[in-house]
Amino acid sequence: MKSIVILISGRGSNMQALLEADLPGCRIAAVISNKADATGLEIAKQHGIATQVLSHRDYPEREAFDAALAAAIDQYQPDLVVLAGFMRILTAGFVAHYQGRLINIHPSLLPAYGGLATHERALKDGVKIHGCTVHFVTPDLDHGPIIIQAAVPVLRDDTPATLAARVLHEEHRIYQQAVRWFCNGHLHLGADGKVLLNRIEQPGASLISPGLE
Ligand code: GRF
Repeated sequence: MKSIVILISGRGSNMQALLEADLPGCRIAAVISNKADATGLEIAKQHGIATQVLSHRDYPEREAFDAALAAAIDQYQPDLVVLAGFMRILTAGFVAHYQGRLINIHPSLLPAYGGLATHERALKDGVKIHGCTVHFVTPDLDHGPIIIQAAVPVLRDDTPATLAARVLHEEHRIYQQAVRWFCNGHLHLGADGKVLLNRIEQPGASLISPGLE
């Protein structure tokens, strides 16, 4: 049985989707937040999951916080650490410690729109297709090896909120798929830094946006 620790900072909807997903071979051992008021903590407690708060404000430097965070995580001896809306930039040392077992979800089709305000920027640029990405974490922010992506159409009357909701729906689907692959041993990060996904090929569908007449 593989052990998972989830890190959150806020709402926790991706965490909730994982807690409610069917993940054979995996057990979610704990949810850790850097914010005491993260609403996701309550959801985790309702699911009977151990929770812990570690505030970055209690540490003078990023390195000290990351060392304390790693110590908290390692109590659970996780096979996989899942960032689910964890709003902290992690040090290279922390990332190296979890190489090949640290994944993140980002609300854009990486490598486009790394960083914040992804939906606002996509709308401003007038892109017709947007989406989300699950990737292994490397020291290069929002640029790790890509595991799975979902694309959605950008609609004429979209606001950042409506577009975010459409993307979030897909986030909840692809994150559990990536975790399921990891749990059943199909997904690895190769020594060459490339994603290894051992499974029967299953091409996704094409998306044309706006649709053809
Ligand atoms: C999601 O959009 C995720 O992609 C990004 O932060 C947001 C977190 O939402 N990294 P939630 O806390 O999972 O609801």
